Amino acid sequence: MGRGQRPAARPALLQLLLLPLLLPGCSAEPKRYEPTWESLDARELPAWFDEAKFGIFIHWGVYTVPGFGSEWFWWYWRQLKLPEFVAFMKANYPPGFTYEEFAVEFKGTFFNASTWADILVSSGAKYVVLTTKHHEGFSLWKSNNSWNWNSVDRGPRKDIVKEMEVAIRNRTKMHFGLYYSLFEWFNPLFLEDQANSFQTRYYPPSKCWPDLYELVNTYKPEILWSDGDGDAPDTYWNSTGFLAWLYNDSPVRDTVVTNDRWGLNNICKHGGFFTCNDRYNPGYLLPHKWENCLTIDKESWSYRRDAKLSDYLTIEEIVEQLMETVSCGGNFLMNISPTKDGVIPPIFEERLRQIGTWMQVNGESIYGTKPWRAQNDTITPRVWYTSKPKENLVYAMFLQWPSSRIVVLDQPIATVGATEVKLLGYEHPLKWTSLPNHGIVVKLPELTVDEMPCKWGWSLEMKNVK
Ligand SMILES: *[C@@H]1O[C@H](CO)[C@@H](O)[C@H](O)[C@H]1NC(C)=O
Ligand SMILES: *[C@@H]1O[C@H](CO)[C@@H](O)[C@H](O)[C@H]1NC(C)=O
Ligand SMILES: *[C@@H]1O[C@H](CO)[C@@H](O)[C@H](O)[C@H]1NC(C)=O
Ligand SMILES: *[C@@H]1O[C@H](CO)[C@@H](O)[C@H](O)[C@H]1NC(C)=O
Ligand SMILES: *[C@@H]1O[C@H](CO)[C@@H](O)[C@H](O)[C@H]1NC(C)=O
Repeated sequence: MGRGQRPAARPALLQLLLLPLLLPGCSAEPKRYEPTWESLDARELPAWFDEAKFGIFIHWGVYTVPGFGSEWFWWYWRQLKLPEFVAFMKANYPPGFTYEEFAVEFKGTFFNASTWADILVSSGAKYVVLTTKHHEGFSLWKSNNSWNWNSVDRGPRKDIVKEMEVAIRNRTKMHFGLYYSLFEWFNPLFLEDQANSFQTRYYPPSKCWPDLYELVNTYKPEILWSDGDGDAPDTYWNSTGFLAWLYNDSPVRDTVVTNDRWGLNNICKHGGFFTCNDRYNPGYLLPHKWENCLTIDKESWSYRRDAKLSDYLTIEEIVEQLMETVSCGGNFLMNISPTKDGVIPPIFEERLRQIGTWMQVNGESIYGTKPWRAQNDTITPRVWYTSKPKENLVYAMFLQWPSSRIVVLDQPIATVGATEVKLLGYEHPLKWTSLPNHGIVVKLPELTVDEMPCKWGWSLEMKNVK
């Protein structure tokens, strides 16, 4: 419900029951935020984000045309002049070829937002974050301030952000999020500000802020995933001014979450959830909500035509990352990158569908859980805990099915007559015994390959353990 709006008519009894909620002091009037980190950092993250746990990141841009190296292709080739990139251009393109010309080939010939949405949702993810513009500056919507460097005037000639928004919102229940790079490598206004040590501010008010307001007002993202501070401080970006608007007056102020990439030295300190480094996965509980964003292709966020099978994470590695991340209080944002043709390569689709089948069995140990008092076991390695305190449930997720079928856990304290242990995806309760002082020994069932509920990691659900 929007601020100031009140439901119209209510039955009298209901009115009476609701009365305390409407009294001053308990009113639903949301708090206003000041454009200071102190005020903005005090905002509670909308609850949906922590409950969701798992999202998919999509990197799609002109860099998928060379499809070589990474999404940093332009910079490595033109700015750093890395020999590999210079040689690649020399061997494959005529002299004088410019990066901008790649956009002609960025056609998205087979792009179908519904197909993408169906593949994405099969993963069990609860949100999607789409790159609307990376450091190359090419935008996937007709930004008012992009000249013709966007997907409507060039390449696919489509508003990709709009088509994705419609497909995600219409075909799935996933939350729709947008990534936006604040700076652009070669934007002349940004370069001028940079040359002036950011004492001038030509670029933010003429490009960055109009884009961000346009994105938020038009597509109403529930995640705004900022990136690319260009080594400029948040005062240059006026990040606190923008976030105050986002939290106070924007159409998504009640549901939107943001990250921590809003200016030099702000990362891991200010904003919404913390991303710290790419592929951040500390292995211990953090006091602040965080997200592990990682790539299935270990080398790159963007599609590489020359990637080898061994460059991709296996499903076992992905399941382990997910377990570690969630048990330590993080969300897991897993990146894929479609090709210039607008196709999600089958290797990514396979990983998405695999994690989806795992989630169908084990989702209870992930979605809506809270970190437990211990994150991992102290006796058996690679066992990760989560919990649902209200239901008195603790989950122990494990990665190796012991040939003895005996799982020894040092952390849970079990009580005879009260504690019940289940394997998710298997209907019968499991036998267990207590260890002296603390710890529990669980006997796994004898299962054939066909009876195994899943293949890449399992979850024990323990009711009433301490
Ligand atoms: C896009 O994909 C959807 C779902 O697979 C399908 O129903 C639709 O016909 C496709 N659209 C086009 C233009 O091919
Ligand atoms: C685009 O710019 C024009 C002219 O400044 C303005 O009237 C229009 O509202 C802008 N559109 C959006 C979506 O911001
Ligand atoms: C959403 O899907 C329904 C049917 O599933 C369709 O009738 C409607 O046109 C779609 N809306 C949009 C905006 O695509
Ligand atoms: C910063 O953003 C706020 C909110 O949009 C705006 O009122 C203010 O004028 C901006 N400040 C500067 C220095 O651009
Ligand atoms: C797991 O738990 C032990 C004991 O509490 C701890 O020393 C270790 O660092 C933890 N983390 C990992 C990744 O094993």
